[in-house]
Amino acid sequence: MSNLKQQVGIKAAEFVTDGMVVGLGTGSTAYYFVEEIGRRMKEEGLQITGVTTSSGTTAQANGLGIPLKSIDEVEFVDLTVDGADEVDPLFNGIKGGGGALLMEKVVATNSKDCIWIVDESKMVECLGAFKLPIEVVQYGSQNLFRHFETKGYSPSFRMAEGTRFVTDQGNFIIDLDLKKIENTEALANELDHTVGVVEHGLFIGLISKVIVGRPEGPEVIEKEVK
Ligand code: A5P
Repeated sequence: MSNLKQQVGIKAAEFVTDGMVVGLGTGSTAYYFVEEIGRRMKEEGLQITGVTTSSGTTAQANGLGIPLKSIDEVEFVDLTVDGADEVDPLFNGIKGGGGALLMEKVVATNSKDCIWIVDESKMVECLGAFKLPIEVVQYGSQNLFRHFETKGYSPSFRMAEGTRFVTDQGNFIIDLDLKKIENTEALANELDHTVGVVEHGLFIGLISKVIVGRPEGPEVIEKEVK
């Protein structure tokens, strides 16, 4: 029986056409999108080139026989489909729950179009209940941690099997427990200018649509153009 994550993954694959360079997201929802791309290639002869956003997705895509290029080998990506941890009414969001935010943001910012696939619990009025992941260089990360503490951001190092989680790019992740982000742009700007921060999980103005998994079926919501 298909679940909501699978349904939105399959729905998103409908936006993929022959010849596209496709950004392949990371996480338990994007997993189903990648599986569907693999199925369509095998059963329908769909031809695409994938650009992955993590070592995990690379392994999955290789297993499915999806031809891959690195982001540096393509001029741009036509469409990226990825999951998200929170999405606000302006289609800004938090990503990085799976620790792949840096590669995800690099691929997303090199994409002509991006779609997020989520279940309805991730659609929120205000970002911040989900801890904001910050990818930081290891050198100086303890001082950066103290800096975040002083700012009242309630930081914690991401852990994996009793040790600090290391990203695909060799960095640590510090999660900030902000509860409620009052001004997303201002916080993004502050983090963009904090030495030692490689990238943060605030994704602003990058997507054109969200596909929301609902019990009655996936809903495609287009960004309002004002
Ligand atoms: C990976 O780093 C993340 O940005 C994921 O895309 C995000 O956490 C959504 O993951 P799930 O689909 O597993 O909830």
